Amino acid sequence: MIRILQITIVCIFSTAVLSVDTKNSFADNKDLTVGFSQIGAESGWRTAETKSIRSEAKKRGVNLKFSDAQQKQENQIKALGAFIAQNVDAIILAPVVETGWEPILKKAHRRGIPVILVDRGVKVTNDDLYTTLIASDFVAEGRMAGDWLAAKTGGKANIVELQGTPGAAPAIDRKKGFEQAIAKHPGMKITKSQTGEFTRAKGKEVMEAFLKSGGEIDAVYAHNDDMALGAIQAIEEAGKKPGVDILVVSIDGVKPAFESMVEGKLNCTVECNPLLGPAAFDAVEQAVAGKKLPKNTIVQDKLFDQSTAKDVIDSRQY
Ligand code: AHR
Repeated sequence: MIRILQITIVCIFSTAVLSVDTKNSFADNKDLTVGFSQIGAESGWRTAETKSIRSEAKKRGVNLKFSDAQQKQENQIKALGAFIAQNVDAIILAPVVETGWEPILKKAHRRGIPVILVDRGVKVTNDDLYTTLIASDFVAEGRMAGDWLAAKTGGKANIVELQGTPGAAPAIDRKKGFEQAIAKHPGMKITKSQTGEFTRAKGKEVMEAFLKSGGEIDAVYAHNDDMALGAIQAIEEAGKKPGVDILVVSIDGVKPAFESMVEGKLNCTVECNPLLGPAAFDAVEQAVAGKKLPKNTIVQDKLFDQSTAKDVIDSRQY
């Protein structure tokens, strides 16, 4: 353990922008113990994030205690409790939902253990309860997807929506951003909306139900690529052409999404970079050294569609 001083967490109302290629500036971390509470392995994106954090810990010689919560907040709270009891130097948390963290974060705060939030934010009455948040702007992602679809359809589309995990920041914010974008076009409406829990299997199941329930479907908006890929399977099994008969737009930018765009099935994806390991451990190292951190670091994302997919597919890292 290298945490000698109690860290006073300072609330800094500032935002940094990250273009995800941070370099380690600390030479020796072999005494640093960090607990990482991961949500689960529901999507290709999440697996890539886990890999990035694990490999960065290894690269820096950090002793990483990893806990997979199997999508359950109660498991994450238990894991955090165990990390605190073990007096880890810092905690990295990818919170499954936004609310319900206050008591456990207060406990970490009282013990002076910095908590680095990665990829999803939390709702707490006092932002001092976590050290920093490194994440994409999910509202902006939803807006980008909606704007792209509006341009593609000339502002006219009956859309079905596959939402992420209920209560999760990306599900709430990607819905909000998309709705903001299509609100500018009276001819665009979401006709059906249900959770597909960020998984391919559930995305397929819900899309099958949407297709069976009748009504015109011009486009699918999925809150992540895995659900979109499941929906594509359902569309094909229903005898329709995804990408042509029904447009499909999603978020994440995982390699299978690029493959699907090259095949002409997925129409577009908004990248949400999961390679957060370097930035997360930079934050850990700075926090344990008592340095000030920005309250938010926004990861920069961009949109890819079929016109660009082929050119960039080989360079995709996840
Ligand atoms: O929080 C990021 C989201 O969580 C990703 O879009 C999704 O694939 C994951 O499960």
